[in-house]
Amino acid sequence: MADIRPFDTIDALSVAAAEELLSIAAEAVRERGVCHVALSGGSTPKQLFQILARLGRNAAPWEQIHLWWGDERTVAPDHADSNFKMTKDALLDPLGLINFQRIEGELDPTEAASKYTAALESLRPAKDQWPVFDYVMLGMGPDGHTASLFPNTPALDATSEVVVANPVDSPLTKGPTTRITMTASTLNWARQIRFLIAGADKAEPLWQVLRGARDPKTYPSQLIRPFLGHLVWYVDKAAAAKLDEAR
Ligand code: 6PG
Repeated sequence: MADIRPFDTIDALSVAAAEELLSIAAEAVRERGVCHVALSGGSTPKQLFQILARLGRNAAPWEQIHLWWGDERTVAPDHADSNFKMTKDALLDPLGLINFQRIEGELDPTEAASKYTAALESLRPAKDQWPVFDYVMLGMGPDGHTASLFPNTPALDATSEVVVANPVDSPLTKGPTTRITMTASTLNWARQIRFLIAGADKAEPLWQVLRGARDPKTYPSQLIRPFLGHLVWYVDKAAAAKLDEAR
């Protein structure tokens, strides 16, 4: 049964998710001396980042928290569409955070994916094991995608790769492009995975993902099933509006 935490508004969702992230990070640092967090892009996380920024440097052991991104657009880091830029403006710059490794969207996508995979080597508990994040933040698009795992795209089948370049042609990406994304395998090895989902446009895909038939090619968010960790769905009332529908 999915662990779903409903909130009246995105504001309440963002406060609760920020507080839990801080708690998970503090525990990771206590236990392992470091906390590796993969952040989501899109617009939903921005409020959470702004809340963390307002709480200040002393709210978390930021020197031991290392930030990564689950996906990136193939744009420069100062481009308006850059997931890194959104985080830089909302969180990194306000708190003066320097422990991060962005996906270099300005490079050839295959090269950027290869470089990010190499950078993640340090997260492998052992040579033959997968990189493990302490916390992975995910959003979900109105088509049921997550990270840049879009419906019917090659990355959905990339079970042996850590990060890939994924050719996407979707109305959500303003036409054909290439995204750089962690694969479902990488995301699923995380200790803690949190979807942050808000807005009425997510109600139908959320019903499909959580209540509909298993069809991960069409609804890639269904691929997110942690191997060992725990998955929680933070949803606002608008996104959860259809979850009680029997069909
Ligand atoms: C991206 C994100 C993507 C996002 C969803 C939801 O690069 O856009 O990684 O997976 O989380 O599209 O986006 P919103 O939060 O803007 O609805």
